[in-house]
Amino acid sequence: MIKIENQRFIEYFRENFFQGNEIELKDFLENIPKDLSKTLRINTNKISVSDFLKFSELYEGFELEKTAIPNIFYTKKTDNNKYALGNTISHLLWITYIQELRASYSVYELSKWKVDREKYTILDMAASPGGKTTQLAEYYPNSIIVANEFTQNRITQLISNLERIGWNNFCVTNYNWVFFRDLPERFDKVLIDAPCSGEWIGFKAIETIKHWNIKKIKWLSGLQENLLERALVSVKVGWEILYSTCTLNKLENEWIIEYIEKKYPESFRVTYSKRFWPHVEKSGWFFVAKIEKLKSVETNFKKREAKNNKEIKKIDKASLEALSRFQKKYELDLWDSELYVYKSDILAIKRNPDFWELINDLYLTRLGQRIGNIVNWEFTPNYYLARDYELKNAKKIEIKSLDEVYDYLKGKEIETSLELEEKEYLIIAFKDLKIWGWYYSEWKVKNIFPKEWVVK
Ligand SMILES: C[S@@+](CC[C@H](N)C(=O)[O-])C[C@H]1O[C@@H](n2cnc3c(N)ncnc32)[C@H](O)[C@@H]1O
Repeated sequence: MIKIENQRFIEYFRENFFQGNEIELKDFLENIPKDLSKTLRINTNKISVSDFLKFSELYEGFELEKTAIPNIFYTKKTDNNKYALGNTISHLLWITYIQELRASYSVYELSKWKVDREKYTILDMAASPGGKTTQLAEYYPNSIIVANEFTQNRITQLISNLERIGWNNFCVTNYNWVFFRDLPERFDKVLIDAPCSGEWIGFKAIETIKHWNIKKIKWLSGLQENLLERALVSVKVGWEILYSTCTLNKLENEWIIEYIEKKYPESFRVTYSKRFWPHVEKSGWFFVAKIEKLKSVETNFKKREAKNNKEIKKIDKASLEALSRFQKKYELDLWDSELYVYKSDILAIKRNPDFWELINDLYLTRLGQRIGNIVNWEFTPNYYLARDYELKNAKKIEIKSLDEVYDYLKGKEIETSLELEEKEYLIIAFKDLKIWGWYYSEWKVKNIFPKEWVVK
C-alpha cells in the first residue's frame, strides 16, 4: 500500500479536521491512494436510463452499480467486456460520458438534482475540458450556456467535447475571468469550477501530495477569491453561483466563501456547502458551495463596447436556400434552432431570446453545433446532423451484429441493394440507436464517422 509521508500535509489535516480522532485520520490517509472505479454518465437526451441499462447489459458487458446520482453509474469490468469503456458503442456514439462521480456533484447541486426546462442564461466560468459544461447542457436543455475558458490551448478540447456529446445550447468564449466583472447581472446561474491545487489527484499521482505545501495553496487561494468576486458581479440578483474545487483544505474552500460573506454581508448568502471525503463518499475529493445573490454590489465596471462577432454571421440567403433544399428532401426540421455561418460551416443553436443580447456583449469562439457546410451552393451534412437531428425521409440500413458495427467504425464500407440516388445520405441503425449518416457511391455506403474517433 502507498503511504502518505508528507508531514506538513498530515499535520494540516490533523489540526484542521481530525483533532483527537487518529482513527479517522488514518482511515482518510489510507483512502487517498485508492483508485476509484470509473463512473459513466448517461446522456438522457439520447436514451433513457432504463433503455441504456438493457442495451449495456446485452452489448457492452460492464457491471453497472448505482451511485447517488440517478444517471451516473459505477462500472466494473467483467469477462464479457470485449472493448474498453472508452471504446464501447455507447461511448463512441456519445450516449455516455466518462466522468468522475465527485466532479459531477457541482452541476447536480446547482440544478437541485433535476432537469430544469426553463430558459436561463448560464455561465460556466472555467469550462475546459468541458465535463461539467456537457452536464449543464443536460440539466438545462433549454438554457444558453456560455462555456468560458481562459487558457487558449484548452479551447480545442472543450469544443471537441461539446460537439461530441451533441447538445446545441452552448457557445464558447475565451476570456480571462476579470472580463466578467464588466458584465454585471447578466447570468441566472454561474458555475465556477475553480483552478485549484489539485489535491484530488492524490489517488492517481501520489506525487501531488508529496509536494503539497501551504505557500502554493495560499497563492491559489488569492486567485480563487478574485475569480469568485468577479463571478458574483455577473450573476443577477435573486440567482445563484456554484463554487467548486477538487480540494479539501480550508484555504481554497471555506476561506474563499467566508471572505465573500464578510466583504458583502448584505449581498450574498451561502445556502449550502459540502466536502466530499475520499474515505466517506468514496467518490474522490471535492468541495461545493452554493451562494445566493441577495442584492447588487457596487462596482466601478465600465460598460463594454458591443463586440463584433465578425466571423460568425447570421445565415445568409444563399446558404439558407441550399440548406432548405436539403431540409425538404430529407424532411429535416430545424424550427428549434437559430442558424449561423462560420466560414463555410453552418451552426445551429437552440432558440433563446436572451441569446440576442449576449451576442452583442461577447466575442464568441464557437456557437452551437456544426451541422454541415456549404460548398458550391450545396449543403453537405456532417456526422453530427445525422446523429442528433431527425432526417424523417432518409432511408435506413440496420446493422445486425456488433462485429459489423465495429467493422464499420474501422472504416469498412457496406454493400447495399437499396435503390439509391448517386449521392444519398442514409441512416445506419443498430438496435434503435441511430448511428451514422452515410454517403452512397458505386453501390457502397461510405463511412463518414469522424476519423479521429475510429477505434484502433
Ligand atoms: C478545474 S479546471 C475546470 C474543469 C472543468 N470545469 C471540467 O469540469 O471539465 C479549471 C480551469 O480554469 C481555467 N482557468 C485558469 N485561469 C483562468 C482565468 N483567469 N479565467 C478563466 N479560466 C481560467 C484553467 O485553464 C482550467 O481549464
